[in-house]
Amino acid sequence: MKQWIKIQRIPGVLATSYEKATRLVINSYYSEVADEIVSRFTSGKMLDLGTGPGYLPVEIVNRQPNINILGIDLSKKLIHMAQANAAKAGLSDQLRFEVGNSARLRFSDEVFDMVLSTGMLHSLKDPVGVFKEIYRVLKKGGQAWLFDPAKVASDVDRVKWKASLSIREKFFLQLFKSFGLHKPIETYRRDEVLPMIEASGFKDFHIEENEDEIRIKLKK
Ligand SMILES: C[S@@+](CC[C@H](N)C(=O)[O-])C[C@H]1O[C@@H](n2cnc3c(N)ncnc32)[C@H](O)[C@@H]1O
Repeated sequence: MKQWIKIQRIPGVLATSYEKATRLVINSYYSEVADEIVSRFTSGKMLDLGTGPGYLPVEIVNRQPNINILGIDLSKKLIHMAQANAAKAGLSDQLRFEVGNSARLRFSDEVFDMVLSTGMLHSLKDPVGVFKEIYRVLKKGGQAWLFDPAKVASDVDRVKWKASLSIREKFFLQLFKSFGLHKPIETYRRDEVLPMIEASGFKDFHIEENEDEIRIKLKK
């Protein structure tokens, strides 16, 4: 059996290929998630962990300008893309993006009304550490919604995506696959996330399991 190596950060040479995939699901996946979020939250300070190119924060603030979002990601290249996407949407006042590790957040305790994350959980080396950090930075009564691996993976029209890739992008995707660095995405199951939730301190939670995504909603 092929041995895969877990890499958390989307490597710089794969950032543009990833961005092209996510761009294809803005009107399906991110719109749907943003609609659900603004139907529940109309203002406040949110933190988006593993924000990638920032399309979900852009969709949220486009719908509800009273929300401020800080997106963090390990990838410097994706953070630059997210900043450019926020500027292009005219939302740089409400959206900020910076490089950071979700397992070691630089923020004080209890500063965010909501923590979000789509598509990051499956790639984490220390998921329990991240759950603990989420608990720490959330205000009392605040919520965290973690959707994974995010239908961003399964909703993408792969034919359209592959046709959009340059020779260089295809080369690096193939290279990462050959070296076992581009692990196929696996969805966590309920019984696997329950101990993580328990270890982090959350008592109030709801888990939805679909065929290709787990949606974890936590309340502090
Ligand atoms: C599959 S992408 C999802 C991006 C975006 N949320 C979306 O829905 O398109 C996962 C992202 O999480 C980032 N990431 C992985 N581990 C991280 C960590 N510990 N802290 C911050 N970002 C992380 C990766 O660099 C990558 O951009």
